[in-house]
Amino acid sequence: MTNNNDELIEQIRRLKKETKAIILSHNYQLGEVQDIADFVGDSLELSQKAAKTDADVIVFCGVHFMAETVSILCPHKTVLLPDMHAGCPLANMITPQRLLEKKTEYPQAIVMCYINSSAAVKAESDICCTSANTVRLVQKVPLGKEILFVPDQYLGSFAAAETGREMILWPGYCPTHVRIQPQDILRLRTEHPHAKVVAHPECRTEVTALADAVLSTGGMIRFARESEAKEIIIGTEIGILHRLRKENPGKSFIPVSEQAVCPRMKLITLETILWSLESMEHQVKVPEETRLRAKRAVDRMLEVL
Ligand code: 13P
Repeated sequence: MTNNNDELIEQIRRLKKETKAIILSHNYQLGEVQDIADFVGDSLELSQKAAKTDADVIVFCGVHFMAETVSILCPHKTVLLPDMHAGCPLANMITPQRLLEKKTEYPQAIVMCYINSSAAVKAESDICCTSANTVRLVQKVPLGKEILFVPDQYLGSFAAAETGREMILWPGYCPTHVRIQPQDILRLRTEHPHAKVVAHPECRTEVTALADAVLSTGGMIRFARESEAKEIIIGTEIGILHRLRKENPGKSFIPVSEQAVCPRMKLITLETILWSLESMEHQVKVPEETRLRAKRAVDRMLEVL
């Protein structure tokens, strides 16, 4: 770590105290950001943590829809996203207008939206889900009830296969996860015959079919801790390797693809966190009418689990 970083870290810590702020970081953030955070987790864990904190200000190190979810759950707190360009291309693959049009084709269907969607899309949905709970939530939908699943086709088809349910899938996908290719897993399995393979459910179906476990990023962190395997092949965004290696020094973690990098996640840096705390920018606030409707879908998810 450079002296420059030490200085930045000290300033962030001081301002954090002065403003009664907490820093939350997603598992894909830069290592230096994860290290300064009060809590690092997956989408579900981060929203649960935000809902419980008594801090006045939440600096959210992740992408826009995650900060919006925090705003949905904590309307009286100041939610800061250090870089407004930290969006999620998957979440942007659906708009509330397009969803409303689709709903007219399937008026009886339950709309289940992946948390990787805007607050406005959540507001038009019946129930929200994350990669950690989609299968369980689909299982709870009464048999015979149609499910319109948006916007991630791969998470949706994984849940459909796991539950044996037919689902209507929106054709969205994560541009980072589709870079993870089955042939890379097959090659790595030959090179590391004793390794276990974990993949995120946003990966292509051919990829999840090859994995020993299909898990959220939080699930991967637990798997790494609990597994007897000394080598684990990781099929997700490579930011997670920082935490995996830090928490499991005796184990080896091999990314399926070094190209699985989400550039939007990496926009948040120590510099932008400091700027965010100094200026109280950029505030993410979901308009109240949208918030209340989106919250119904998020609350339903939290109640069912
Ligand atoms: P997790 O909820 O598994 O952390 O996934 C979030 C995400 O955006 C994956 O691309």
